[in-house]
Amino acid sequence: MGGLKKIKMPRKIPFIGHLWLFLDNKTFSRMDEIAEKYDSLYQLVFPTTQFYVVYSNELTADVCDTKKFSKVVDSGLDEIRALSGDGLFTARNDEKNWSLANQILKPAFSMKLMKNYIPVMDGIAREMNKNISSRAGQAIDVSGLMTAMTMETIGQCGFCEGFDSFEHAGDHPFVKAMIRSLSIAMVKSRLLPFHKKMKLFDNRKFNNDRKYMNQFVDQIIEQRQNTTAEHPDLLDRMLHDTNKDGDKLDHENIRYQLLTFLIAGHETTAGLLGFCLYLLSRNPQVLDKARLEVDEVFDTIGDNPLALGNMSQFKYLSQVLKETQRLYPTAPGFLVASETDQVIGGKYMIPAGQTCYVHLYRLHRDPAVWGNNAEEFIPERFSPENANKIPTSAYRPFGNGKRSCTGQNFAVLESTITLAYILRDYLFKGDPNYRLQIEETMTIKPVNFFLQFENRTRKKLTEVA
Ligand code: HEM
Repeated sequence: MGGLKKIKMPRKIPFIGHLWLFLDNKTFSRMDEIAEKYDSLYQLVFPTTQFYVVYSNELTADVCDTKKFSKVVDSGLDEIRALSGDGLFTARNDEKNWSLANQILKPAFSMKLMKNYIPVMDGIAREMNKNISSRAGQAIDVSGLMTAMTMETIGQCGFCEGFDSFEHAGDHPFVKAMIRSLSIAMVKSRLLPFHKKMKLFDNRKFNNDRKYMNQFVDQIIEQRQNTTAEHPDLLDRMLHDTNKDGDKLDHENIRYQLLTFLIAGHETTAGLLGFCLYLLSRNPQVLDKARLEVDEVFDTIGDNPLALGNMSQFKYLSQVLKETQRLYPTAPGFLVASETDQVIGGKYMIPAGQTCYVHLYRLHRDPAVWGNNAEEFIPERFSPENANKIPTSAYRPFGNGKRSCTGQNFAVLESTITLAYILRDYLFKGDPNYRLQIEETMTIKPVNFFLQFENRTRKKLTEVA
């Protein structure tokens, strides 16, 4: 075809291609360093696979065209699939259980039903604050605290079981097994097939953890069949809801969905809140504006729990969270492919079956959309007047099309409520010399980031005036 342009790539080494660039655990940051050198797209070649990294708004619009491209479950996701089977996140597009679960769970995660979880999330935020208050003045590891909060939330909302996360962060055997098996899965996703098989010790640990996690969740499902839930939860929905043909999820698939929510739903939201607190600690004017809004809302409800009606009052907080996800999309990319050859941007050929990685971190900094101050934290970009001007393909923190995030409403509610309670009750400061360090697993999160919290007595705004 005339007019096609060659897709560039970094220097390759015979036999191993670009594997030499990814021998450490820094896949995401290495891909980002390479992206700095190219315009909007480049290719990576490995011994058994290859893919294209896409990160301009123009090209993303083409690969997010769901008539041409759809999600791929390979490399990293294949390893996670060993844990979460045909749960929503790791199911293949044509699997029967994906469409059945999507029909049953999309409504279960709708705002209409999500309101049932607001009291639970509110209670967990208050519990978290008790824990913060007990450590007032000490340097608190923010990612650890936020991970405890998200694990507790997904456990309580998913199946009415907590993990005692605030008192014994990360000590629960299930939490340990999940974190260990996910990290083995991530390491294995970067290895060649023969090398994966050689990891005998890790493979044994992984299999033991997988068995234990399955047993843990299976027991919860079995117990629930003979009892009623303390409060409405996702397990209840999965046991009782049907699609329009009357079909229900089977026991094994319910297990995979619960594991999916725990895997897909804890690190992502914890990372979002970690980055958000980091950005707020560095941008006092934004923090003051957000806190003013929080005080206004609590002025109207006093110490009553937050309700669905309050959520739309957190307008600026919502902009703060969206801008955080622009700068730090905690699921930093997703994979798509087309069944036929496709030309993207009118000039680059993506052959049939080849995977494209949508590199969100760089896409969300595309100067053609976000301007020359794309690196700056400016929540006003998402004000109602400005948000309308953002092209849909330029901002994709929750993925694309029918395979986009099922838990989006859940994550938005959980992060809004948590942030509101933190701003209401605390002043906080970090070490001014701290330079942001990002840990990469399947998601990204700030590490070695500590904040000191100081109890704050909220003054009613009328008293301040
Ligand atoms: C800030 C928090 C979150 C972010 C940034 C996020 C991001 C994403 C992204 C980018 C995808 C698409 C992945 C792909 O195409 O391969 C996705 C899928 C998914 N997420 Fe989330 N997520 C978040 C929170 C949650 C929560 C709290 C849950 C559940 C409680 C959840 C459940 C899922 C599920 C089930 C899928 C698979 C949907 C499907 O393929 O049908 N996520 N998420």
